Amino acid sequence: MAARDIDLLKIKNRYHIVGNSPELDMAIRTALSVATTNLPVLIIGESGVGKDVFSQMIHDYSKRKSRKLLPVNCGAIPVGTVNSELFGHERGSFTGAVESRKGWFEEADGSTIFLDEIGELPKDTQAQLLRVLQQGEFMRVGSSKVLHTDVRVVAATNLDLNHAISQGKFRLDLYYRLNTITVKIPALRERPDDIPLLFRQFCIDFAVKNNYQSVSLTKEAENLLKSYRWPGNVRELISIANRVCTMESEPLSPGVSEERVQITSQQLNRHMPHDEGSFIPAVAEETGSGLSPEERKMIFGSIVKLKQEVEELKKTVIALQGGQKTPDAAFALAPRRDESYMAVEEPEPDEQSQEEIGTEVRKTGENALTLEDNTYQAILSSMARNDNNRSKVARELGISERTVYRKLNTMMKLGLWQKD
Ligand SMILES: Nc1ncnc2c1ncn2[C@@H]1O[C@H](COP(=O)(O)OP(=O)(O)OP(=O)(O)O)[C@@H](O)[C@H]1O
Ligand SMILES: [Mg+2]
Repeated sequence: MAARDIDLLKIKNRYHIVGNSPELDMAIRTALSVATTNLPVLIIGESGVGKDVFSQMIHDYSKRKSRKLLPVNCGAIPVGTVNSELFGHERGSFTGAVESRKGWFEEADGSTIFLDEIGELPKDTQAQLLRVLQQGEFMRVGSSKVLHTDVRVVAATNLDLNHAISQGKFRLDLYYRLNTITVKIPALRERPDDIPLLFRQFCIDFAVKNNYQSVSLTKEAENLLKSYRWPGNVRELISIANRVCTMESEPLSPGVSEERVQITSQQLNRHMPHDEGSFIPAVAEETGSGLSPEERKMIFGSIVKLKQEVEELKKTVIALQGGQKTPDAAFALAPRRDESYMAVEEPEPDEQSQEEIGTEVRKTGENALTLEDNTYQAILSSMARNDNNRSKVARELGISERTVYRKLNTMMKLGLWQKD
């Protein structure tokens, strides 16, 4: 037991992992135990929780550590080229294939491949991946020659793969093959006590790197941090810590007498996002009611849902009072699609139907737009925050780059967004 705790500390230092929650420790222990085997590993966790860090850790502690880990973001490869990227192609196998090319599975022979956003792989690619996992065999695009590779697969997803399976988007047999060992990295809101520790560390990093005053928080400010939902998890926390340090502390210079500065909750509040539902309801946080994160999520979801229903009712009443039973009013009374308010991402229709839905909801009426508009709004705000960098937007929102791309396309058609 003692030896294991020393390992844990060593690993946290090596990978700059901050946090003491039992769930995080369990994730590290699981990663370490499986690292030395050749078993595939499935890392699950929301956007920004540390899935990349864990994939590197598993590789570094494996027998393959002398070779480089090969990371592949499945969500960033266009559907049309994903087979050729992963398994290679022969010359002339498609327009533009001017010469043969090795795929990532050939390149990674003897090493580990990190398949990030595995839930984004098309179904036919999933079948080929299953074959590699079971027999170590694959074929290049345009060839019938069976090739062999010795690759260890570490996969990651921030999607609920069970949901993807029930929608027919992810193969059950592949899921069974991948999830023998699952490393679940907890979201920040599930380990609130780690939040101030992480914040403190990122402020220290900032102060050391930039020679600034060191920043600490009042107890109230810490509570404010803990009550935020952190949809972007640790990555978002880093960004807010940097923002707070930049705006609320000063560079150390002969004119600055204080080496430390304490930030109040009011000061901190100025730098926190205030989108709808961004804070966990105070009642669940402060009563010390012993509610589990799942129970808190459920309560939170119900409150958001209730609020939306009240808004809809208000609109209906106003419309009815005006004496006109408008199509909008009638629509507001109709049952809505069942929507999970806690889902990170709604189920993604294919490209064609996505566009159709975009135009269809516009036609249906104002109320039908709410959910879609929220998505567009979130993407637009994130684009502004991230200098229009789509991969950063995808990471921040916990959706794939392909989804960002599709949504932007739809928004462009609706006149909501323009390319610069
Ligand atoms: N426990 C932690 N302590 C300190 N830093 C952490 C911790 N977990 C993650 N980080 C840092 O947070 C950032 C995001 O981590 P990472 O890229 O591994 O997340 P991810 O889950 O792969 O995100 P995405 O879903 O967007 O791909 C990185 O800078 C990483 O070093
Ligand atoms: Mg990642």
